[in-house]
Order: sequence, then C-alpha cells, then structure tokens
Amino acid sequence: MARPALLPPTPRNVEAAARALAAGELVAFPTETVYGLGADATDGRAVARVFAAKGRPRFNPLIAHVAGPEDAFALGAFGPLAREVAARFWPGPLTIVVRRAPDCPVAPLASAGLGTVALRVPGLALARDLIARAGRPIAAPSANRSGRISPTCAAHVAEELGGAASIILDGGPCAVGLESTVLDLSGGAPVLLRPGGTTREALEPLTGPLAAPRPGGPVVAPGMLASHYAPERPLRLDAAGPEPGEAYLAFGPAPEGAFAATLSADRDLAEAAANLFGLLRALDRPEVRAIAVAPIPETGLGRAIVDRLRRAAAPR
Ligand code: TXA
Ligand code: MG
Repeated sequence: MARPALLPPTPRNVEAAARALAAGELVAFPTETVYGLGADATDGRAVARVFAAKGRPRFNPLIAHVAGPEDAFALGAFGPLAREVAARFWPGPLTIVVRRAPDCPVAPLASAGLGTVALRVPGLALARDLIARAGRPIAAPSANRSGRISPTCAAHVAEELGGAASIILDGGPCAVGLESTVLDLSGGAPVLLRPGGTTREALEPLTGPLAAPRPGGPVVAPGMLASHYAPERPLRLDAAGPEPGEAYLAFGPAPEGAFAATLSADRDLAEAAANLFGLLRALDRPEVRAIAVAPIPETGLGRAIVDRLRRAAAPR
C-alpha cells in the first residue's frame, strides 16, 4: 500500500483531509487524547474499512466524533443528565453513550448494531475544525491495530497503520495521552464503561456514584476486554525495580540505565498519562525480556493509567 502523506495541520491540509473524509477515505488525525483513524460515520463502506484496517472485531462499536454538543443532540437521545454532563465536559476527553435517535444517520455498523451510539466532542480545536469542515459525524477509533497500544503521535500511526489512511494530520504529541472516559447514560444508572481522560472524581458530583460495567452485559468492548493496549513484551506491574533483563518504567525520579524511563519525575499523574503509551512503545524492545512498571496511585487519572497497565499485562 502507498505511504500516506504525513501533513502539518495547515488550513489547506485540514481542508484536503475534510474532503478526503467526505469522499469516503480514511484520515488519521490528532485529538487531545490519542490519534484517531477517522471515517465518515454515515458511510457504512468507509466504516467497514476502519474495522478492516485495525483488524477490529465487528462487535466492538466506534465513537462518532462531532464538532459541538448540538450535533450530538441530533444523533442521540440526551436526557437532562446527559445534557448537563455534555455542557460541563464537552469539548473534552469524555464519550457519552446514549440511545440512537430514531433517524440517526450513523451507520449501524459503526455502533455494531446496538441501539446506542457513543458520541464525543474532542477537546482539540484542530479535530473539531476537521469534523466541522467534513460536515458529518466522524467515526474514529484509536489509530492502532486492534489490541495494541494507542498512538500518541503521528509517527506511531505511520508505523502501525501505514497505508490505511490517505492522509495523516500531524498535530504533534497528544496532551492527555489516554483515551476518553466512556460514560453510559443510555439506561437507568450511569455506568463508567472505560476510565479515561475525564476522572471519576470530576464526574460523580454531577452523575452521582458511577456503576461498573455488568460482566456479560450487552457490549463486550475490547476496550473492556482483559487483554488490550498490549506491547510485544510482557509487563510486570507494581515492581519496586527491574530484575535482570527487564526494562523499567518508573514513577518518580528517573532511573539509570539504557532501558529505563520515568512516567513523571515529579509523580504528576497528568504527565504520567501523557507519557504512558509512548514510553511503553519505546521500552518494548527486543533487547529486554519484560517491562517492569512501578506502582501507580489509583486516584484521578491514575485509575485510567492502572486500567491500561492491567490490560496490557493480562495474559493473551
Ligand atoms: O479518546 C478516545 O476515545 C479515542 C479518540 C480517537 O477519540 N478513541 C477511542 O476509540 O479510544 P476506540 O474505538 O479505541 O474506543 C472506543 C470505546 C470502545 O471501548 C468501545 O467499545 C466503546 O468506546 N463504545 C463505542 N460505542 C459504544 C456503545 N454504543 N456502547 C458502549 N460502548 C461503546
Ligand atoms: Mg482503542
């Protein structure tokens, strides 16, 4: 397949990317969380190409990205709580799952045939500009092969999804570095389907206590599967230090050694989140037999970091 053009996000290039999306092509673009592999969400054939490029199981639905809350309200059934949550957290790293509106134009394949649709207004202005210019909702999973580490810079996308996208917009590194939080407001009690860039602590004053996903519930989402976000080498968690042959990912002062790095020298969780996926890729080297990772506190963004690390460490 042809190498896609890796383009700086000039107005001209964003316009070209929007036209490519409208023509049914795939475009990789940055958001504040991770890079997405975008397609016209209303075009079933374009959406099918996204599933094929990622090797993604068809039962795992995609997020439809829109330029503003009003666009989301046209696609799904937003009750009073969902509207309040949208007003408070959009644009930003939060995905809201609601029931599909009766005339919702999002291709059924994008929501994996479910009666619900996942919607997000990205925090990065460049992403909203692209979506607005394309003039349609954009289905975009993280731009990685299914089950692998999400991309937080354009080079990761180029390495892994090479020829799938006609254009890769290079907006530099992603500020948040972890995927959006997925909040299900489609039924009775609000359910936290995936911890992410919006913390539970920020949500709960508005939503009340968030329930955990029901095991064996209607959606079996690979973001929720035990093994996901996996590097090639095995991971060993809660490690005080590396054992012989291991790389080491610290949380705190930077360790010595060729295959050692720190998520954050100051133990800052936002910095750690932004560094996590890039450092996992960097340490996932043939010279090491495993990657040992320091303990991370499970509060705020630490919950999403630990969630990703546990899935990356799970048996496959
Ligand atoms: O930050 C993000 O969310 C990134 C950027 C590109 O926006 N996107 C992303 O997409 O992480 P993806 O496909 O890797 O993860 C989407 C998650 C999956 O766990 C999927 O199962 C869940 O959202 N999801 C999508 N539609 C859903 C639905 N209707 N009901 C329940 N879960 C849904
Ligand atoms: Mg993903």
